[in-house]
Amino acid sequence: MPYRFSFLVKTSVRRVVENAFDHHHFVTVHNVPVADSIDLTLVNQKDTEPSELPIAKEAWFGTVIEARIKTLTGVGAAIAKFLGLNIETQKNRVDAWPTGYINIFSCDGQQRGKVLFGVTPISKNETRLQVLIMFNKMGNLLLDLFSYIVFVKQFKANGLLDKPIFDTMSTDTTGGAFIRSDQPLLKFRQFYQSWVAKAQ
Ligand SMILES: [Fe+2]
Repeated sequence: MPYRFSFLVKTSVRRVVENAFDHHHFVTVHNVPVADSIDLTLVNQKDTEPSELPIAKEAWFGTVIEARIKTLTGVGAAIAKFLGLNIETQKNRVDAWPTGYINIFSCDGQQRGKVLFGVTPISKNETRLQVLIMFNKMGNLLLDLFSYIVFVKQFKANGLLDKPIFDTMSTDTTGGAFIRSDQPLLKFRQFYQSWVAKAQ
């Protein structure tokens, strides 16, 4: 069950892709209702293989983001349980290359779908972000349809939350003060720059 959309943003390719490695912004910008912390692990530093991607290992940057989700209470909890949307844990496996990534998302250990993000440069500070979402069928037509509508709405709204930030952020990333949780993003910048160097 696919769905796709795209939008223009006024920043560089790297700025758009590195958004996936700024894991704390999923809580502050995208309002992921975490029960406690949100964790990101770099997997390409370990002995892990890319997730069946047609890309060379040296062009791959992989992470896993995991979070426990706040438990719903009352009527909301009962409805969510009926619809199979009472999520306790969320996991996002992100396999990136310099100009995009695939996000394989799972809820409570069950894979629910994959999202392909491709970023195309248009001009110096203008890029088009293209998003293709593929949902796994869960085996019940009505519930599949309902979760398709819920997830599409959520993904599209989430994507658009980044747009005003992309549109106003500078492409210049020199200077600044970084904290430990910025390390994955900084590692992605090094990775990206190494591919810029190869292309030049
Ligand atoms: Fe974002």
